[in-house]
Amino acid sequence: MTLDISGLPADFCWGAATSSYQIEGAADEDGRTPSIWDTFAATPGRVANGDDGAIAIDHYHRWRDDLDLMTELGLNAYRFSVAWPRVQPDGAGTGNAPGIAFYDRLVDGLLERGITPWATLYHWDLPEALEQAGGWPQRETAERFADYTAIIAEAVGDRLKHWITLNEPWCAAFLGYASGLHAPGRTDPAEAVAASHHLMLGHGLAVQRLREIVPDAQVGVTVNLYPITPVDDSGRHDDAVRRIDGIMNRWFLDPMLKGSYPKDVLADLAPVTDAGFIRDGDTATIAQPLDFLGVNYYTRHVVGAGLWPGTAAVRFQLDNGLPRTATGWDIDPAGLVDVLSQVQRDYPSIPVYLTENGAAFDDEVVDGTVHDADRIDFIQSHLASLVMMRDRGMDVRGYFAWSLWDNFEWAEGYDKRFGIVHVDYETQVRTPKDSARWYADLIGTHRAGILGT
Ligand code: FCB
Repeated sequence: MTLDISGLPADFCWGAATSSYQIEGAADEDGRTPSIWDTFAATPGRVANGDDGAIAIDHYHRWRDDLDLMTELGLNAYRFSVAWPRVQPDGAGTGNAPGIAFYDRLVDGLLERGITPWATLYHWDLPEALEQAGGWPQRETAERFADYTAIIAEAVGDRLKHWITLNEPWCAAFLGYASGLHAPGRTDPAEAVAASHHLMLGHGLAVQRLREIVPDAQVGVTVNLYPITPVDDSGRHDDAVRRIDGIMNRWFLDPMLKGSYPKDVLADLAPVTDAGFIRDGDTATIAQPLDFLGVNYYTRHVVGAGLWPGTAAVRFQLDNGLPRTATGWDIDPAGLVDVLSQVQRDYPSIPVYLTENGAAFDDEVVDGTVHDADRIDFIQSHLASLVMMRDRGMDVRGYFAWSLWDNFEWAEGYDKRFGIVHVDYETQVRTPKDSARWYADLIGTHRAGILGT
């Protein structure tokens, strides 16, 4: 597989992504209160090995050195997330100055180094106080989210111009409130659907506030998209494909980009909820004009109809015969072409950034480094898919590797390492893996091509 980046534009965004709870640590410092992830991780059995983000990779204290490493790698963009319980500890009321100051320093530090800051406002760390008040199934949470957005936008919006409202609302709603695999660990399908609506309502309200406070902001949202493929071409599985594509992809894309929920998915959900939480005017609020769509791509889902004739049940994650990562996800760069083609076909005008892409492998430190050829192959092959989509006329403007560092991988704890930089959790020593060096070289090659050197 060849990767030719010579056609990428001079302003192509070469980034890496992280999120607050996964890296910051300093859980009790400077007025931060618990988020739903602190509570979830403290509940026995929820997270592998009983791990939590109390210390994580201690980025809250090591941010200066961490930023220097980004300079060394040549990144021109860094996507981080803002911890709501640091900025507005109770999820209501005025902002918390010491918590806000952290992001103020971070933004300045990035700009001083010539790295464009990209902030995600919600990467799953809801203040626990808001969960106690009902969490995302409650409409008020959407309003609280807009208020919190205004606080951080007032504080750093003069310098921070790239904003992502939500990260992966599918995960926040359905893993958080239906399967219970993520915080807050509830298992009520009707609440999960209500949560998804209120997340998107919060997105719409937050975009409105951002436009008022930061008129020159670039604002978007990040969704995790999956190409959904039938297990065979018999046609028997088409309805399973429609259902899963509906609930995972279209349920989020249609309201935010087209202003309406997909009717077939509303019908699929009828046995679960009457969707009475959708009020007049909500879909118009949700469908704020956006400057870009953030796409996180990891893998494809292969699905099939239920085993017994007449059942609506869907079989999931069927074996596609492809090699897998340490999280058991198929390595499928062609899936990125498929899913971006779907976006290009159904939502043609929106510019796209790949806001996360990467893989966990069982990395080993050998002689002080990590020879992660598998991760290099992964990134290279997915970048080749991105280049292919640009060649097909799609406006894809950037790539953010997930993740810059190994970090707290949610319910998997620290076992699954996604970083291009290795972190020793005992010593907090950061060691760039071969993939980080390779990525830095690639960025350097691109830059040299532009400068004609
Ligand atoms: C995504 C999340 C990110 C990380 C990767 C592996 O779903 O947005 O925080 O956990 O998966």
